[in-house]
Formats: sequence, C-alpha cells, structure tokens
Amino acid sequence: MSLLPPGFPDDVFGAFEVLKGRAPLSVEDLKVLAMIEVSGEYLYQAIARAAPDDECKALLKRNGQEERGHAHRMLKAIYLKGGEFTLPADGEIPFVRNTPQEIPTNAEFLEMLADAEDGGDEIYARWADAEPDAEVARLLRLNGREEARHGERVNEVRKRLGMTA
Ligand SMILES: [Fe+2]
Ligand SMILES: [Fe+2]
Repeated sequence: MSLLPPGFPDDVFGAFEVLKGRAPLSVEDLKVLAMIEVSGEYLYQAIARAAPDDECKALLKRNGQEERGHAHRMLKAIYLKGGEFTLPADGEIPFVRNTPQEIPTNAEFLEMLADAEDGGDEIYARWADAEPDAEVARLLRLNGREEARHGERVNEVRKRLGMTA
C-alpha cells in the first residue's frame, strides 16, 4: 500500500509535477510536499558524498539540512490548516527509498538542480499567493526563499568544480 494519496506517483519529480498543478495546496498535498522535502535531505547527502572537496560537501549538506527544515515547516502548515500528520520513518517514504546513496556531481545534473531550486522558489510563491491562511502563506514563502538560496549554493558548487563559463 502506498503512503501517498491517490494520484501521486512514487517518484519525486512526478509527485512534484502533480503538486505544481495545485493551488492552494490541500492538507493531503502538504503531506506529500513534506515527504518530498525530507527526500531532498537525502538527495543532497547523496551528492555531498560524491563531491570532491570539503567546501562543496559543506554547501550541499547545508542545503540538505534546510530541506529537512522545510518538511517541518510543512507539518506546521498542515496543523494550521486543521490537519494532523506525523512523518513516516524516513526509510518508508517512497521518495527517500528511490534516492540513490550516492549521486555523481556531473555538470548537467547540477545545472538541472540549480534550475529546479529556482523553480521551487517560484512555485512556493504561487502556492503562497493562493493560500487563504496568512501564516501558512508566510511559511510557504520562507521555504521558497530558501530554495532560491539552495540554487545559489548549487551554483557555487558548480563554480568551484569549474562547471560554469
Ligand atoms: Fe525545500
Ligand atoms: Fe531546496
């Protein structure tokens, strides 16, 4: 049995695509989003593992820690919207299970990741604009701003690895 509500695929990109089509987010949507954010921590850890220098590792791990924080903000949002949700154990979250242990830092992937983080900022702003609860909207905007910062850190990693012009 899937932990995800009906209509959500088990892969993180597919699930995020579904959420992109929703505004405002429902409590069920926010549960999926919280689990996606947890998997973001694993994604960054996997890239940090493969990163060739300590400064890059530190930048990537910092992004990962903030993804965990994003998940917790979304739990708060669920509560504010009258819902209740406890995150499943990490290993039970399909998006976490589908994240490889190690992800090589190749140029194409890091460029895509930086773009995805910038896109994350935009989509969080869209969700916040559509959100009737002011405090929930504020939490969504906080996540969005940090996604933009994640994109900057990924670009910093790309620069350090000689991947930008
Ligand atoms: Fe995030
Ligand atoms: Fe992020």
